[in-house]
Amino acid sequence: MELIGSNISFKYPSAKKYILKDIDIYLDNTKITGLVGDSGSGKSTLCKILSGYIPKFEGRVTLNGEELPKKEFCPVQLIYQHPEKVMNPKWKMSAVLDESWVPDDALLEDFGIQKSWMTRFPQELSGGELQRFSVIRALNPKTKFIIADEMTTMLDAITQVQILDSVLKIVKQRNMGFLIVSHDMDLVNTICDDVIYLKDINKI
Ligand SMILES: Nc1ncnc2c1ncn2[C@@H]1O[C@H](COP(=O)(O)OP(=O)(O)O)[C@@H](O)[C@H]1O
Ligand SMILES: [Mg+2]
Repeated sequence: MELIGSNISFKYPSAKKYILKDIDIYLDNTKITGLVGDSGSGKSTLCKILSGYIPKFEGRVTLNGEELPKKEFCPVQLIYQHPEKVMNPKWKMSAVLDESWVPDDALLEDFGIQKSWMTRFPQELSGGELQRFSVIRALNPKTKFIIADEMTTMLDAITQVQILDSVLKIVKQRNMGFLIVSHDMDLVNTICDDVIYLKDINKI
């Protein structure tokens, strides 16, 4: 499984300057890759491009040689730093989850999700509890590649390890690709086989 970005350049419509220029990035499911870089350097923007959230950019993104689908479910799933920003506050957690897929009880248990949380609204859960839902949501059986953008930054150390362990177990089981963005070099050095520094691939 190869996720390849070629010649990616991008500038926000409201900005004067490009933040990403001629980026070539190659990722596959044989290793866990870390992406690191200074705050504001464009890591999240690159993640959004690689997972189809920003559809208009210069260059090309392909998964196994094919462009990402625009309308159907995207096999490259992005897990955000702030899950509450991408969940509908008016939906109960069961609906938030069902929008993607219906996981079995064993998986919910793996992620420490309690049944009683299903009938709550996003604002009635803690950051760690919500992040467990957003990870599970991204683990749709159709997902081939996960991009985790600072997904555990807001969490305490124990919750961070629990969530990462659970997700890495499934990534391995299903042979999925995994790119993790983090400013925590200890974490990156512990779990990644490879590290990409954005400044090394950004020809800005
Ligand atoms: N929607 C947006 N519109 C305009 N500028 C943005 C938008 N999102 C991010 N930026 C700017 O783009 C740059 C890169 O942001 P980002 O990709 O979030 O960096 P990082 O994730 O590395 O901190 C920053 O200067 C940020 O202010
Ligand atoms: Mg970011």
